[in-house]
Amino acid sequence: MDKISIIGGNPLKGSLKISGAKNAALPLLAAGLLTKDPVILTNLPELSDITTFLDLMAHMGCDCIREPGQVTLRTPDVLDLEAPYELVRKMRASVLVLGPVLSRFKEVRLSLPGGCAIGTRPVDLHLKGLEKMGAEIILSEGYVTAKAPKGLKGCDYTFPIVSVTGTENLLMAACLAHGTTRLLNAAQEPEVTDLAHCLVGMGAKISGIGTSTLVIEGQAELGGTTHSILPDRIETGTYAIAAAITGGSITLENTSLKLLPLVTQTLCQVGLGLEQKGDNVEVNSPAHGLKPQDIITEPFPGFPTDLQAQFMALMTTINGASSITETIFENRFMHVPELARMGADIAVKGNTALVRGVSSLKGAPVMATDLRASVSLVLAGLAAEGETLVSRVYHLDRGYEKIEEKLSACGAHIKRIRKDPVIDEPSINTTSSLKIASSGHA
Ligand code: UD1
Repeated sequence: MDKISIIGGNPLKGSLKISGAKNAALPLLAAGLLTKDPVILTNLPELSDITTFLDLMAHMGCDCIREPGQVTLRTPDVLDLEAPYELVRKMRASVLVLGPVLSRFKEVRLSLPGGCAIGTRPVDLHLKGLEKMGAEIILSEGYVTAKAPKGLKGCDYTFPIVSVTGTENLLMAACLAHGTTRLLNAAQEPEVTDLAHCLVGMGAKISGIGTSTLVIEGQAELGGTTHSILPDRIETGTYAIAAAITGGSITLENTSLKLLPLVTQTLCQVGLGLEQKGDNVEVNSPAHGLKPQDIITEPFPGFPTDLQAQFMALMTTINGASSITETIFENRFMHVPELARMGADIAVKGNTALVRGVSSLKGAPVMATDLRASVSLVLAGLAAEGETLVSRVYHLDRGYEKIEEKLSACGAHIKRIRKDPVIDEPSINTTSSLKIASSGHA
């Protein structure tokens, strides 16, 4: 397996381009299953999670033509109503095919998903919502089978807790249901809003977009569209923190602070300068030290759980004490022992981590455990004295496009060490089921 080597201590300087959002791209790809007409998605990030999802789409009958930065999806009919274990186990977001395939083809069978090891992460809310829309749900041998021979029916469904992919699944299902669906306590994440806008472009009737109540009037069919995927707010926050942790100043191109209201406010309280200039965000470290800050993760517009690990890495380097409370996932402090290997002082009690800043982190061999935990180790490595060697970097490749290139362009000493330097493995696997329009670009 590849490793990433980082020699810390260089303040970042320069600019890097923020990619399209992975967590918006995945439901948008699934939306391509809702119509026989072409759906073209641009600003598509080059990530292994996207390849995994396209493999699943291709298996189910979607003709996926991938070109640099975009994909064209055509699903004239379904080939296979089953999303098998081998494809689903790699990524929990595979559950997003459930709503679209069931609502359009009246039946679907899906292996219960895997993904990042951050807690038990059930999909019961997705299933309860579909059941409320009239689907018959059968769980057996690790698979869920959902059937609605006469089609799904509109209903009122209140999420007992906010679920991002749960909202996206039911939103897509409701677009082709008979009658009106009201989703209450719906997720308001910008990625949900981006999906809703794309669905409207496909002919869906949705009101309340961007709020916690989405009202969807089902349509007999949807058509094609072209949609540009919104910028990745988690990548934006990650690189802003990278600038802060190194005492650097960088420009993040093609992104918006509007996607990160509370993170922007929190980082400003920490002492970082953040300014929107057109489509770019300027990040400036102050001449004097940063201040500690307490955070609690919450659904949007709260502080995102997907930036918790990165924020913790920053807090380990800031003089003083800060507390970090994780309310979304129960097992999301797996980066703590790894940061401790680098000299961080962190005490975890229940779902709160108390971080006391140390004068310097020390480079060490560390292991990535999930996507966001792994990038927090990269950030810590950028600030640490000496070499940090991050193993299991396939987690990073799931969600950070060209991370070494982007950070190197800003002066970081970071490089990938291939498992076998003779056979230069591509970092993203492609399979024969996917058509690649441009050779060499996955
Ligand atoms: C999405 C994001 C992920 C992010 C998370 C929270 C994608 C592809 N992934 O994940 O990066 O960390 O939102 O912002 O967009 N829950 C249930 N039953 C369900 C569904 C969820 O109990 O049926 C619980 C989960 O275990 C968790 C909480 O609800 O405790 C929120 O999870 P959810 O918003 O569904 O996360 P994902 O959509 O999987």
